[in-house]
Amino acid sequence: MAKKLRIGVLASGGGTNLQSIIDGCTNGDIDGQIVVVISNNPEAGALNRATNAGLTTECINHRNFSQRQLFDNAVVQKLLDNRVELVVLAGFMRIIGQQFLDAFPGRIINIHPALLPAFPGLHVQQKAIDYGARFSGCTVHFVDGGVDTGPIIIQAVVPILDTDNDDTLSARILDQEHKIYPQAIQWFAQGKLKVDGRKVSIIGHTQKPDAVLINPPLNS
Ligand code: GRF
Repeated sequence: MAKKLRIGVLASGGGTNLQSIIDGCTNGDIDGQIVVVISNNPEAGALNRATNAGLTTECINHRNFSQRQLFDNAVVQKLLDNRVELVVLAGFMRIIGQQFLDAFPGRIINIHPALLPAFPGLHVQQKAIDYGARFSGCTVHFVDGGVDTGPIIIQAVVPILDTDNDDTLSARILDQEHKIYPQAIQWFAQGKLKVDGRKVSIIGHTQKPDAVLINPPLNS
Protein backbone atom coordinates (compact mmCIF):
# COMPACT_ATOMS: atom_id res chain seq x y z
CA MET A 1 0.00 0.00 0.00
CA ALA A 2 1.23 3.51 -0.83
CA LYS A 3 2.61 5.62 2.00
CA LYS A 4 -0.05 7.79 3.63
CA LEU A 5 0.30 11.56 3.66
CA ARG A 6 1.13 12.81 7.15
CA ILE A 7 -1.40 15.56 7.93
CA GLY A 8 -1.29 18.12 10.75
CA VAL A 9 -4.55 19.96 11.41
CA LEU A 10 -4.70 23.37 13.12
CA ALA A 11 -8.11 24.36 14.48
CA SER A 12 -9.48 26.94 16.89
CA GLY A 13 -13.21 26.18 16.98
CA GLY A 14 -15.88 23.52 16.78
CA GLY A 15 -13.96 21.34 14.38
CA THR A 16 -16.61 20.24 11.89
CA ASN A 17 -14.05 20.53 9.09
CA LEU A 18 -11.59 18.52 11.16
CA GLN A 19 -14.32 15.89 11.53
CA SER A 20 -14.82 15.69 7.76
CA ILE A 21 -11.07 15.11 7.37
CA ILE A 22 -11.02 12.48 10.14
CA ASP A 23 -13.91 10.73 8.38
CA GLY A 24 -12.19 11.02 4.99
CA CYS A 25 -9.02 9.40 6.35
CA THR A 26 -11.07 6.65 8.00
CA ASN A 27 -13.28 5.78 5.04
CA GLY A 28 -10.49 5.87 2.47
CA ASP A 29 -11.49 9.08 0.65
CA ILE A 30 -8.16 10.58 1.76
CA ASP A 31 -4.92 8.62 1.39
CA GLY A 32 -3.62 10.23 4.55
CA GLN A 33 -3.41 10.07 8.31
CA ILE A 34 -3.81 12.92 10.78
CA VAL A 35 -0.67 12.70 12.90
CA VAL A 36 -1.38 15.71 15.13
CA VAL A 37 -4.20 18.17 15.85
CA ILE A 38 -3.06 21.49 17.31
CA SER A 39 -5.29 24.19 18.77
CA ASN A 40 -4.49 27.60 20.21
CA ASN A 41 -7.79 27.45 22.11
CA PRO A 42 -8.05 25.11 25.13
CA GLU A 43 -11.86 25.18 24.78
CA ALA A 44 -11.89 24.16 21.11
CA GLY A 45 -14.43 21.46 20.28
CA ALA A 46 -11.89 20.33 17.69
CA LEU A 47 -9.69 18.98 20.51
CA ASN A 48 -12.57 16.82 21.77
CA ARG A 49 -13.26 15.52 18.29
CA ALA A 50 -9.58 14.63 17.87
CA THR A 51 -9.42 12.91 21.25
CA ASN A 52 -12.58 10.94 20.48
CA ALA A 53 -10.94 9.77 17.26
CA GLY A 54 -7.84 8.65 19.18
CA LEU A 55 -5.60 11.30 17.60
CA THR A 56 -2.60 13.06 19.13
CA THR A 57 -3.61 16.53 20.32
CA GLU A 58 -1.60 19.57 21.37
CA CYS A 59 -2.97 22.74 22.88
CA ILE A 60 -0.58 25.64 22.34
CA ASN A 61 -2.30 28.66 23.82
CA HIS A 62 -1.20 31.84 22.05
CA ARG A 63 -1.93 33.81 25.23
CA ASN A 64 1.08 32.16 26.86
CA PHE A 65 3.46 33.75 24.35
CA SER A 66 4.71 37.34 24.46
CA GLN A 67 5.23 37.52 20.67
CA ARG A 68 3.52 35.89 17.73
CA GLN A 69 6.86 34.67 16.44
CA LEU A 70 7.40 32.58 19.56
CA PHE A 71 3.92 31.07 19.28
CA ASP A 72 4.56 30.28 15.60
CA ASN A 73 7.89 28.65 16.49
CA ALA A 74 6.19 26.39 19.04
CA VAL A 75 3.54 25.32 16.53
CA VAL A 76 6.11 24.72 13.77
CA GLN A 77 8.25 22.64 16.14
CA LYS A 78 5.27 20.39 17.01
CA LEU A 79 4.50 19.92 13.33
CA LEU A 80 8.14 19.06 12.60
CA ASP A 81 8.30 16.71 15.62
CA ASN A 82 5.38 14.81 14.09
CA ARG A 83 6.96 14.82 10.60
CA VAL A 84 3.92 16.58 9.10
CA GLU A 85 3.90 16.78 5.29
CA LEU A 86 0.71 18.86 4.84
CA VAL A 87 -0.54 21.54 7.26
CA VAL A 88 -4.32 21.90 7.11
CA LEU A 89 -5.85 25.04 8.63
CA ALA A 90 -9.42 24.22 9.64
CA GLY A 91 -10.90 27.26 11.32
CA PHE A 92 -7.51 28.29 12.73
CA MET A 93 -7.95 31.87 13.92
CA ARG A 94 -4.30 32.97 13.95
CA ILE A 95 -2.30 34.59 11.15
CA ILE A 96 0.58 32.45 9.87
CA GLY A 97 3.93 34.28 9.94
CA GLN A 98 6.66 34.19 7.29
CA GLN A 99 8.91 31.77 9.14
CA PHE A 100 5.99 29.37 9.50
CA LEU A 101 5.37 29.65 5.75
CA ASP A 102 9.06 29.06 5.05
CA ALA A 103 9.04 25.88 7.15
CA PHE A 104 6.30 24.34 4.95
CA PRO A 105 6.64 25.87 1.47
CA GLY A 106 3.61 25.00 -0.69
CA ARG A 107 2.41 22.71 2.08
CA ILE A 108 -0.14 24.79 3.99
CA ILE A 109 -3.78 24.98 2.91
CA ASN A 110 -6.80 26.82 4.30
CA ILE A 111 -10.57 26.85 3.89
CA HIS A 112 -12.44 30.14 3.78
CA PRO A 113 -16.24 30.53 3.93
CA ALA A 114 -16.61 32.88 0.94
CA LEU A 115 -15.91 32.93 -2.78
CA LEU A 116 -12.45 34.47 -2.81
CA PRO A 117 -11.22 36.96 -3.81
CA ALA A 118 -14.57 38.40 -2.62
CA PHE A 119 -14.90 38.81 1.13
CA PRO A 120 -11.54 37.87 2.66
CA GLY A 121 -11.13 38.18 6.44
CA LEU A 122 -13.70 37.68 9.18
CA HIS A 123 -17.53 37.60 9.45
CA VAL A 124 -17.76 37.07 5.73
CA GLN A 125 -21.12 35.29 5.59
CA GLN A 126 -22.86 38.35 7.07
CA LYS A 127 -20.79 40.64 4.84
CA ALA A 128 -21.95 38.76 1.72
CA ILE A 129 -25.60 39.06 2.84
CA ASP A 130 -25.21 42.76 3.66
CA TYR A 131 -23.61 43.40 0.28
CA GLY A 132 -26.63 41.89 -1.48
CA ALA A 133 -24.57 39.23 -3.26
CA ARG A 134 -26.65 36.49 -4.93
CA PHE A 135 -24.07 33.78 -4.36
CA SER A 136 -21.47 32.93 -1.79
CA GLY A 137 -19.62 29.72 -1.05
CA CYS A 138 -16.30 28.44 0.13
CA THR A 139 -12.73 28.28 -1.11
CA VAL A 140 -9.81 25.95 -0.41
CA HIS A 141 -6.51 27.67 -1.17
CA PHE A 142 -2.80 27.44 -0.54
CA VAL A 143 -1.64 29.84 2.15
CA ASP A 144 0.72 32.67 1.24
CA GLY A 145 1.79 35.79 3.11
CA GLY A 146 -1.55 37.60 2.70
CA VAL A 147 -4.95 37.23 4.32
CA ASP A 148 -6.88 34.63 2.26
CA THR A 149 -4.90 35.49 -0.89
CA GLY A 150 -3.12 32.26 -1.89
CA PRO A 151 -3.65 30.18 -5.07
CA ILE A 152 -7.15 28.67 -5.23
CA ILE A 153 -7.58 24.88 -5.40
CA ILE A 154 -11.37 24.39 -5.36
CA GLN A 155 -14.51 26.42 -4.71
CA ALA A 156 -18.16 25.56 -4.07
CA VAL A 157 -20.98 28.01 -4.74
CA VAL A 158 -24.23 28.34 -2.79
CA PRO A 159 -27.13 30.74 -3.39
CA ILE A 160 -27.85 33.52 -0.92
CA LEU A 161 -31.60 33.57 -0.27
CA ASP A 162 -33.62 36.67 0.60
CA THR A 163 -34.56 34.92 3.85
CA ASP A 164 -30.96 34.11 4.84
CA ASN A 165 -29.28 35.23 8.03
CA ASP A 166 -25.70 34.61 9.15
CA ASP A 167 -26.61 31.21 10.64
CA THR A 168 -28.58 29.81 7.72
CA LEU A 169 -26.03 30.91 5.14
CA SER A 170 -23.11 29.68 7.27
CA ALA A 171 -24.75 26.25 7.58
CA ARG A 172 -25.33 26.02 3.83
CA ILE A 173 -21.70 26.94 3.16
CA LEU A 174 -20.38 24.58 5.86
CA ASP A 175 -22.09 21.61 4.18
CA GLN A 176 -20.04 22.33 1.07
CA GLU A 177 -16.83 22.91 3.06
CA HIS A 178 -17.13 19.34 4.30
CA LYS A 179 -17.15 18.13 0.69
CA ILE A 180 -14.45 20.23 -0.90
CA TYR A 181 -11.81 20.15 1.86
CA PRO A 182 -11.39 16.34 1.90
CA GLN A 183 -11.30 16.40 -1.92
CA ALA A 184 -8.56 19.05 -2.01
CA ILE A 185 -6.51 17.11 0.55
CA GLN A 186 -6.88 13.91 -1.46
CA TRP A 187 -5.64 15.67 -4.61
CA PHE A 188 -2.64 16.90 -2.63
CA ALA A 189 -2.04 13.38 -1.26
CA GLN A 190 -2.17 11.99 -4.80
CA GLY A 191 0.34 14.59 -6.01
CA LYS A 192 -2.21 15.95 -8.49
CA LEU A 193 -1.99 19.65 -7.63
CA LYS A 194 0.24 21.65 -9.95
CA VAL A 195 0.82 25.28 -8.99
CA ASP A 196 1.92 27.78 -11.61
CA GLY A 197 1.97 31.29 -10.13
CA ARG A 198 -1.60 31.97 -8.99
CA LYS A 199 -3.04 29.08 -10.97
CA VAL A 200 -3.58 25.59 -9.65
CA SER A 201 -4.41 22.74 -12.00
CA ILE A 202 -5.50 19.25 -11.05
CA ILE A 203 -3.61 16.80 -13.19
CA GLY A 204 -5.88 14.51 -15.19
CA HIS A 205 -9.12 16.06 -13.92
CA THR A 206 -11.90 17.08 -16.35
CA GLN A 207 -13.99 20.20 -15.77
CA LYS A 208 -17.59 20.91 -16.86
CA PRO A 209 -18.22 24.00 -19.00
CA ASP A 210 -21.99 23.83 -18.26
CA ALA A 211 -21.62 24.16 -14.47
CA VAL A 212 -23.61 27.40 -14.56
CA LEU A 213 -25.78 28.75 -11.72
CA ILE A 214 -28.27 31.60 -11.84
CA ASN A 215 -29.88 33.11 -8.74
CA PRO A 216 -32.69 34.11 -8.58
CA PRO A 217 -33.78 31.57 -11.20
CA LEU A 218 -34.96 32.66 -14.65
CA ASN A 219 -38.73 32.63 -15.31
CA SER A 220 -38.43 29.52 -17.43
C1 GRF B 1 -15.39 27.40 8.78
O1 GRF B 1 -16.47 28.15 8.30
C2 GRF B 1 -14.14 27.74 8.01
O2 GRF B 1 -14.39 28.04 6.68
C3 GRF B 1 -13.65 28.95 8.75
O3 GRF B 1 -13.91 28.70 10.10
C4 GRF B 1 -15.00 27.80 10.21
C5 GRF B 1 -14.53 26.62 11.02
O4 GRF B 1 -15.57 25.75 11.34
N1 GRF B 1 -12.26 29.20 8.43
P1 GRF B 1 -15.24 24.36 12.05
O5 GRF B 1 -14.45 24.66 13.31
O6 GRF B 1 -14.47 23.51 11.07
O7 GRF B 1 -16.59 23.77 12.36
